[in-house]
Amino acid sequence: MKSLRCISRLTSPHNLQPCHSSHSLSRNSSFLVLLLRTQFPSIQTSLSHSNFRKPDSSFSSGPVIRSSMAASTPTTSAETGTKLFSVIFVCLGNICRSPAAEGVFRNLVNKRGLDSKFRIDSAGTIDYHEGNQADPRMRQASKRRGIEITSISRPIRPSDFKDFDLILAMDKQNKDDILDAFNRWKFREPLPDEAHKKVKLMCSYCKRHDETEVPDPYYGGPQGFEKVLDLLEDACESLLDTILAENKHIFDS
Ligand code: 4NP
Repeated sequence: MKSLRCISRLTSPHNLQPCHSSHSLSRNSSFLVLLLRTQFPSIQTSLSHSNFRKPDSSFSSGPVIRSSMAASTPTTSAETGTKLFSVIFVCLGNICRSPAAEGVFRNLVNKRGLDSKFRIDSAGTIDYHEGNQADPRMRQASKRRGIEITSISRPIRPSDFKDFDLILAMDKQNKDDILDAFNRWKFREPLPDEAHKKVKLMCSYCKRHDETEVPDPYYGGPQGFEKVLDLLEDACESLLDTILAENKHIFDS
């Protein structure tokens, strides 16, 4: 395992040419990661966020906690001062699955005339694609279903554990990474004790699909993006129904 960790460290983007486009750098590292994942499935965990971060990442254990400088945003309506229900979707890069989840959920909320009651956002467990638009393949697949994806990638930050009522992870690794981050950040700044309970798996809301995770489509073909949207449309419908049923105090006013 020790040698495998070394291999995974060697594949870190720190060792590759820096580039901020959503493809060139990630394509190089993606190839190596894909190769390693295929050859050594057991190192998948150590190849998650920890090997895709920049040196000043919000997940860094070093002294710079850049993300904690981000201001906490109020979750009340600017117009009415009433409480908003806040949901954030989280995947690895925040360029495929979580921006799509944000778009699908926003579209549903809009169709039901509930925009003013919600705050909806998305983030990644790595900051590797920070500032980038969502992957064009994901945007095009969503557009074909009438869903616009407009979000810009950003990493999850400590204030998200205060600002959001629900944190939806796309897969189990994302969920573990989010909880690991919470467990580190809670010793550095005050965070709600129970915030870890806000973290749920997106597919736990699926009604028509048996999958337990939204699979990462980044390395695959177009059908992967369609599958993501199928799962997200299923999960988002029941997520919205569940939120409305469990938070009547917000939605009945
Ligand atoms: P996402 O997909 O987590 O759904 O945004 C990915 C995006 C980028 C990479 C992997 C997955 N990447 O290796 O750069």
